[in-house]
Amino acid sequence: MVRESMLTGQIVTIICDEKKQSRKFIDLVRRYYTVNLTDIDHASAEDFKKSLLIIVQVDLGNRQIIPALKEKLSLPERANVPILFLVPQLTRHALVQANILGATDYIAYPCPDNNFIQVMGDLISREVEKAWSKLSKTQEAALKVSLKVVEETFGNARRGEIISPDDIKNSCNMIIEATSKDGLTDWMNAIRQHHNYTYRHSMMVCGYLVSFGMYLGVQRHDLQQLSVGGILHDIGKSLTPLELLEKPARLTPEEWVIMKQHPSHSRTIMMESNWDDVLIDIAVHHHEKLDGSGYPDGLQGTQVSDLARMAAIADVFSGLTDKRSYKPSMSSEAAIDIMLTMEGHLDMPLVKAFRAVVL
Ligand SMILES: [Fe+2]
Ligand SMILES: [Fe+2]
Repeated sequence: MVRESMLTGQIVTIICDEKKQSRKFIDLVRRYYTVNLTDIDHASAEDFKKSLLIIVQVDLGNRQIIPALKEKLSLPERANVPILFLVPQLTRHALVQANILGATDYIAYPCPDNNFIQVMGDLISREVEKAWSKLSKTQEAALKVSLKVVEETFGNARRGEIISPDDIKNSCNMIIEATSKDGLTDWMNAIRQHHNYTYRHSMMVCGYLVSFGMYLGVQRHDLQQLSVGGILHDIGKSLTPLELLEKPARLTPEEWVIMKQHPSHSRTIMMESNWDDVLIDIAVHHHEKLDGSGYPDGLQGTQVSDLARMAAIADVFSGLTDKRSYKPSMSSEAAIDIMLTMEGHLDMPLVKAFRAVVL
């Protein structure tokens, strides 16, 4: 079982003392995670127990505060939580001091927002991946293999290389096995806090589709198609500019035009790699709406296949329940309530069936 904080918390504890230092990063952290802001005196074992990461921004040149900070950071509850030190400059003294205090990493701050997000995100993702060892062996293997597969597949697509279906099918079989043996909840919770959005979202859509397919009693071959289609449904985003994908704010209307090209990119990428029509259909048509107002082809009613309808439901649900830098997460119940009002967009009988899968 994953420890409790990995299942429920999205908390980053920030220990600060120096008000005169730049604290702009706190707002940045807040865009992705819940911030628990404290000082050395008030930082507690309880704070550490529920945290994904601890960020420390104190004056390491102030000898008076070091013993108290050391005592706090030596608490056993802190042992499994990475610590990121923010220092004004990467001087030898600062690095030695940070290492003595148990730093996992350090960064010279102020620095550009993207650098900070990258360092913070890597630390959190590494921690999330470490916690996978507490899952069942089947779940752990499915998560590890699929992380590698998603990273490689999107990388290959970005470079214009052919995408081989074999590795993807292999990792999807592991996901199907993990879901049928152990259910969906644990392994989905175990990726929910991963900082890599592409991976998180691809895996969530894949997991929901597998579970949905199992609930509807689809055959093994279709289940495999659904899972491969789910994991690759946004493969076209490998051609969307990174600054748009990782923009820590809502997109402008102009940026949306570019973002909405990703299903067409998926078609190009998958056709070049000679993928099955069924998989191309899932990837290309998960943004179609039954009333014809979707994209890229403006399909209507029965033109939208069952698998594309299911993918649309899993995609919308994942989007609503996932926390992004520009919006909070939503409970499953609230997401389903919203989806039940999306007549004309989603297939209502299927949404009702999906409700039974996720609630
Ligand atoms: Fe999409
Ligand atoms: Fe998506």
